[in-house]
Amino acid sequence: MCEDFEEWLATDSFRSTKHSSMEKLIVHGGAPLKGRINISGSKNSSLPILAATLLTNDTCTIRRVPDLSDTNYMVRILGELGAEVERASGVVVVKAEKIKSVAPYDLVRKMRASICVLGPLTGRLKECTVSLPGGCVIGDRPVDLHLKGLEALGAQILVEGGDIFVNAKKGFKGGPMNLMGKHGSTVLGTDNVMMAAVLAKGITTIEGAAAEPEVEDLANFLIKMGAKIEGAGTNRITIEGVKELHGAEHVVIPDRIEAGTFLVAGAMLGDGVTLKRVMPEHMKTVTDALIKCGFPVDITKDSITVKPNPNAKGFDLTTLCYPGFPTDMQAQMCALACVINDTSTITETIFPQRFMHCAEMKRMGANIDLQGATARIRGGSVMKGAPVMASDLRASAALVLAGLVAEGKTEINRLYHIDRGYEHLDDKLAALGAQLERVQDK
Ligand code: UD1
Repeated sequence: MCEDFEEWLATDSFRSTKHSSMEKLIVHGGAPLKGRINISGSKNSSLPILAATLLTNDTCTIRRVPDLSDTNYMVRILGELGAEVERASGVVVVKAEKIKSVAPYDLVRKMRASICVLGPLTGRLKECTVSLPGGCVIGDRPVDLHLKGLEALGAQILVEGGDIFVNAKKGFKGGPMNLMGKHGSTVLGTDNVMMAAVLAKGITTIEGAAAEPEVEDLANFLIKMGAKIEGAGTNRITIEGVKELHGAEHVVIPDRIEAGTFLVAGAMLGDGVTLKRVMPEHMKTVTDALIKCGFPVDITKDSITVKPNPNAKGFDLTTLCYPGFPTDMQAQMCALACVINDTSTITETIFPQRFMHCAEMKRMGANIDLQGATARIRGGSVMKGAPVMASDLRASAALVLAGLVAEGKTEINRLYHIDRGYEHLDDKLAALGAQLERVQDK
């Protein structure tokens, strides 16, 4: 482990990560939720956009970067790669004048999304070594499609000893490619290839590209930097390579998954939760699902209000790539299904093993039958608070939601999963009336 990295482990930005690994959240169920909250900037946009600042030696300013351990970690990675980085109140300023081409395991292992430095490092330096970030509880998470895309641009790639070695010393050359995988398109894979292709010679066409709003947000930032990209936000992206990129400023889009999580909370209990600073057009499948169940949902240009409905009907949903129902909202919908007095089914097609939350919810009294990648939830039985173990980011959020409606006290351990991706979740829920506290785990 390098010395700088050791130093960082002692800093405030790391402390929040480390700290929360020793904390748990106690949720006292039943307190009604009511009020308004502001949604933070998107985690999944911020991470690749921060990585994209490596593509220029000019200064880039990124606003509304949420204060999370994942974004702190990405800031740290940029610094370790040689960039000067300043961060204050959601604004991150990066100047990546001289950068290194090696991102070792110690640097990338804590966050799978650190793979998104692969595209910009290769794009700018024409060679790099990035360690494979490793496994993840929600599934295997291979990077074959990322590598397929870079190879289609002319890179030579060797994966050995846990490292990815990329060589494109003769320069990248644009061309056609298809990045569709067996579970659909790849978000970070599309991001990586797009970031490598912006500085390639000629035209790159990515078929089977991920159409997620976060990919479009990254493309919009790259376009501000001087890139020529068309079609981002669809399954076909065309990139005309340019010689160099320049500095730019960008405001990150609102986090549609954080927003969706609070919407589900508002549907589960209370007297109306209003989300401000949202982009309702990014959340249509989630709001449509709630409306179909019978929850009153009121949508304006930049706000969404939801209320519970004791007579809500069950739902059948299948996770799909955007604009389909997001896998990152699947666990939260499972918590919602537990309080609907009806049967619901959820089928997971993106990460078929992503059901770790079900076993924990069953410990709270949920009636869930898991058959392969489909969960059948018979809702309406009384949930009772219990000590539960958070397994991953969205599963943890779903356990918090279950705790909000359960009778008594729910203890959610391994809080660091939540702090990876929800900015001040406990403070925001408390502002809506939830009764919860963060305590040291003994
Ligand atoms: C991103 C999101 C994550 C979300 C996921 C799916 C970020 C930081 N994270 O993750 O929150 O759950 O999209 O919407 O944006 N796959 C392959 N080969 C590859 C890459 C992916 O087979 O090379 C498979 C995956 O195993 C999975 C599916 O494709 O089954 C989608 O994964 P992908 O979109 O790549 O997820 P991430 O970009 O890592």
